[in-house]
Amino acid sequence: MSLSNGKDFRSPPMIDPFGRMVSYLRVSVTDRCDFRCVYCMSEDMNFLPKQDLLTLEELDRLCSVFIDKGVKKLRITGGEPLVRRDIMKLFKSLSKRLDGPLEELTLTTNGSQLEKYAGELADCGVRRINVSLDTLDPAKFRAITRWGVLDKVLAGISAAQKAGIAIKINTVALKGVNDSEVEAMIGWAHERAMDITFIEVMPMGDIEPDRFDQYWPLSELRAQLQSRYTFDDIEYQTGGPARYVRVRETGGRIGFITPLTHNFCESCNRVRITCTGTLYMCLGQDDAADLRAPLRASSSNTLLSEAIDHAILRKPKGHDFSIERNSSSPSVSRHMSVTGG
Ligand code: 5AD
Ligand code: SF4
Repeated sequence: MSLSNGKDFRSPPMIDPFGRMVSYLRVSVTDRCDFRCVYCMSEDMNFLPKQDLLTLEELDRLCSVFIDKGVKKLRITGGEPLVRRDIMKLFKSLSKRLDGPLEELTLTTNGSQLEKYAGELADCGVRRINVSLDTLDPAKFRAITRWGVLDKVLAGISAAQKAGIAIKINTVALKGVNDSEVEAMIGWAHERAMDITFIEVMPMGDIEPDRFDQYWPLSELRAQLQSRYTFDDIEYQTGGPARYVRVRETGGRIGFITPLTHNFCESCNRVRITCTGTLYMCLGQDDAADLRAPLRASSSNTLLSEAIDHAILRKPKGHDFSIERNSSSPSVSRHMSVTGG
């Protein structure tokens, strides 16, 4: 927005009813994915019809309004964001905002397309990305992702590192699946100067297996690791929900994201938009606000900005995920792939 004197006008910051300032936006650019991870999706997922998606231009405009309202960190996610056609156009236009108020443009990816896009991402000012990887065993990888090929992901990780992008590995802790492997994964990541963060499986969206069987509390994972490693608590923060420790033996960092055993909501600075322009104020709640209608209603951003302000006032205090055996429905009905992690 410009005032007549030509000076840039910026809207007041977005502050929720609990005094938390919203400075981090995650944008899901597609609900589609080329994998079908067993804890995330069912094998025959139904995806949104393509005509329901916001165009890349609309996504760019929406992000710009959020940046004008105080967003400093923007994460592009999915589904798998790199399967959206022409996605680099969005990165290119968003990268222009890195000269101004936007401090970080980043991405969460499954790595399958990273080999192809690493160079372009680096050219767009992407300095750090999250790559989801739950195992280093090719057969297990195939079993977890149903459709993925481990070597492609490893090649993508190398390509990104060669392009100068720092990588954080995100690993979902899965009981009976990768519990015997976490030390090996830490060794592998730290040798390559990558951080690794473990995540508790969250009850989001219907899937075939019982999540109770997959759920491995990070308190148990941490205890297992501490019989082998010495942890030093560190202040390191990336603006996300992970808490980090430094491992004395490797010198590397491990993060823990514990939505179930520890509520990470107190310091939440995030909101999420889906590829259809729905704003979710909390990952773990169903309340949402439609931004597509105000976006399309007018070429001025006034209505859109007002809709965002109203929604932020409804940001809830936190989520209340729970996982129980044979639970008939997940805590949150939508899948993670609707809003990204
Ligand atoms: N619980 C926890 N993590 C999940 N992810 C996808 N679905 C779930 C779930 N139900 C993870 C992916 C990726 C990140 C975006 O979220 O593995 O690392
Ligand atoms: Fe795709 Fe990520 Fe879901 Fe796996 S967890 S199916 S990679 S969106």
